[in-house]
Amino acid sequence: MFITIEGPEGSGKTTAVDTAVKELEKMGYQIVRTREPGGTPIAEQIRNVILDKNNTAMDQRTEALLYAASRRQHLVEKVWPALKEGKIVICDRYLDSSLAYQGGARGLGIDNILSVNNFATEGTFPDLTLLFDLQPELGLARIAANSNREVNRLDLEKLDFHRKVRETFLELAKRYPERFVVIDASQNREEVAKKTLEVMLSRICK
Ligand code: TYD
Repeated sequence: MFITIEGPEGSGKTTAVDTAVKELEKMGYQIVRTREPGGTPIAEQIRNVILDKNNTAMDQRTEALLYAASRRQHLVEKVWPALKEGKIVICDRYLDSSLAYQGGARGLGIDNILSVNNFATEGTFPDLTLLFDLQPELGLARIAANSNREVNRLDLEKLDFHRKVRETFLELAKRYPERFVVIDASQNREEVAKKTLEVMLSRICK
């Protein structure tokens, strides 16, 4: 089972998923927790290039291709082998982030990004995608309040960009209702974590 976690910065997705993973492991499930961009040494190197705040000259298509390249490497080295061994892979961000950020917010078009990613992923779609939905104003305020988290090149985009990201994520949830579950991330931490575990369990036990 391949589960992906999507949503804006500051949606609390990482904390909620950490809590859910601990519970699932206690129940005896074998989980591989990973993230994009990155997750393997080569993919992490690509991540550093993409997110470097000094790379202000990066072209939008270059950015989209680098995310796809990092995704490919991560699939080959980590995700596919783990799925083959029957493990549950839970990945922070995947294809839908490219569709929302590069396709929607950057305006490159969902279909263009899908075709680049089709080449990169050979059609590997998640079985379940949790979308942590949150107003961008709230997400950005949470990041500003959380001094532990480093601000990256994408965080520095204007509010309008983050609104488009959210809109596109919600469109994707409608386009792929069989794999998307939307979680209201404006609720308190405990509620969000509880819901996250519930949704994962109901899909795993299906
Ligand atoms: P990260 O620090 O991992 O963000 P977060 O903690 O919010 O998950 O940085 C990843 C950034 O890259 C984030 O701003 C979203 C963006 N992104 C894309 O634009 N396209 C993609 O395909 C992926 C995977 C991430």
